[in-house]
Amino acid sequence: MLLKLLLLVCLAALSNAGLISPVYNAPYAYGGWNPYSSYPAQPAIASQHSNILRSPFNLGQVSTYTKSIDTPFSSVRKADVRVSNPGVAIAPAYTRFASPLVSHVGVAAPVAKVATTAGLLGVAYSAAPTVSHMTYTNGLGLAYGCFVVVDFRRARNMSDSGDSDVAWTYYKDRPEWNDVTPVPENEGPNLVVVIAHSEKFVDVYDYFRAVLQKNEKSERALHLTKDAVELNPANYTVWQYRRDLLKALGSDLRSELDYVELVIKNSPKNYQVWHHRRVLVEWLQDPTQELELTGDALMQDPKNYHAWQHRQWAIKTFGLYEKEMDFVDNLITDDVRNNSAWNQRYFVVNNHLGWSDLNVQREICYTLEKIKFIKNNESAWNYLKGVLIHDKRGLSGNAVVTSFCEELYKNKCRSPYLLAFIIDICDEAIKKGETNCLHNANRAVELCQALATKYDKIRSKYWNYMCEKFKKAQQQEESNKDKVENMDE
Ligand SMILES: *[C@@H]1O[C@H](CO)[C@@H](O)[C@H](O)[C@H]1NC(C)=O
Ligand SMILES: *[C@@H]1O[C@H](CO)[C@@H](O)[C@H](O)[C@H]1NC(C)=O
Ligand SMILES: *[C@@H]1O[C@H](CO)[C@@H](O)[C@H](O)[C@H]1NC(C)=O
Ligand SMILES: *[C@@H]1O[C@H](CO)[C@@H](O)[C@H](O)[C@H]1NC(C)=O
Repeated sequence: MLLKLLLLVCLAALSNAGLISPVYNAPYAYGGWNPYSSYPAQPAIASQHSNILRSPFNLGQVSTYTKSIDTPFSSVRKADVRVSNPGVAIAPAYTRFASPLVSHVGVAAPVAKVATTAGLLGVAYSAAPTVSHMTYTNGLGLAYGCFVVVDFRRARNMSDSGDSDVAWTYYKDRPEWNDVTPVPENEGPNLVVVIAHSEKFVDVYDYFRAVLQKNEKSERALHLTKDAVELNPANYTVWQYRRDLLKALGSDLRSELDYVELVIKNSPKNYQVWHHRRVLVEWLQDPTQELELTGDALMQDPKNYHAWQHRQWAIKTFGLYEKEMDFVDNLITDDVRNNSAWNQRYFVVNNHLGWSDLNVQREICYTLEKIKFIKNNESAWNYLKGVLIHDKRGLSGNAVVTSFCEELYKNKCRSPYLLAFIIDICDEAIKKGETNCLHNANRAVELCQALATKYDKIRSKYWNYMCEKFKKAQQQEESNKDKVENMDE
């Protein structure tokens, strides 16, 4: 019952939110789809947690699991709700079935295969170019994501819906391709789970495999790879073959650059698309658009690892450092807490400007200026430590830094990062045997206790541990003092 409820909520949200905007040219317009209407292939609905429920005669399949779904291209670790089709998709063979046509909602890389547990024999459901995925919360505060296969209808004429894919013709129906025999995917004999790809997907990849097998180097093959990429931008083989073709055909690489930019905008988190971009930039030896491209991608998502990688690669390979320092400075000025920006600053200094004494001092001053305004964020403090690694005088030897910290402390600043930093200074002084009235084991013990009991309780275990360490150093200091005094006598 609960299951049903969830499903309905799921579907309701689907239709209410108007989430079915077809990205990827999904040949489908939503209309008033209703799971209980009389479509030829009416989907059954499944919610996955860790159970399988079957409708009578095993026509519909309800499988539930909160387990993860890993594919070569993505990992999903949310509960999902699946729609499998009792009439069509459950059938044990799959290839030429009606294609589940689905919308994508913000899915970068299509899930191409669904790894399932044993015991799901006979279940087929859509692989991913055909699946939409979304996460939302219901009124009860339950959050879940769901995969919903929206429609199993064959990609037929959708002109009434105004869809852009009206003109799609299968490769098998194209006269200019009738000299090619499609090569079906070899799934192996013991396939437990049958995956239903969309008919378009199957058609395109059957022809792609044929072309690959023949090693055909032609314009039509180049065009075919475009369709294959659109259906699955994560397929390395397709991209590699496309590059082979570009080379063999002497194609215009600048328009290819524009093309891959579009693909990146649709799939910014896909490794293969960035790799393709990189190879093109290498071939052209022209990095002039890379900072802007990655800047845009990072605007969308500051944590996009591939975009950072690509940016750093371009900067390093082509020496684009000057502009980068300005870029980073603006980012830090906008948001001092932006850890990515600080990391990028380190990258530029480390790889380009170098850690001369002058640069070290300049970076220290820059960082202290920032810390003055935001004392309670780790990012700048971490950078400061990173810079001081390159200061020959160490943490404890730089008077600018130590007096800055003591000034803050005197002015009642108790940021855990400040206290931790002073502890580090003490630690270094102890190790060097250069303790003084401000930086010694007593001070470190005191600060550890303050952190553990008041300013950083979350990590009290760690601070208590450090405290014990410093107590030993304290005893050592005491006994050294005694020795000195004894000698004096
Ligand atoms: C598709 O639409 C065209 C023109 O709108 C029409 O001539 C054709 O018969 C339709 N095909 C199918 C399969 O419905
Ligand atoms: C890409 O497509 C080819 C042709 O279908 C297939 O053999 C290969 O396994 C696919 N690669 C990936 C990573 O999906
Ligand atoms: C952090 O920096 C990135 C670029 O590195 C930028 O796109 C993003 O907007 C910044 N984050 C915040 C929260 O300002
Ligand atoms: C402080 O910086 C970290 C990065 O170290 C960031 O993830 C975090 O959100 C920031 N905290 C605050 C309170 O701004």
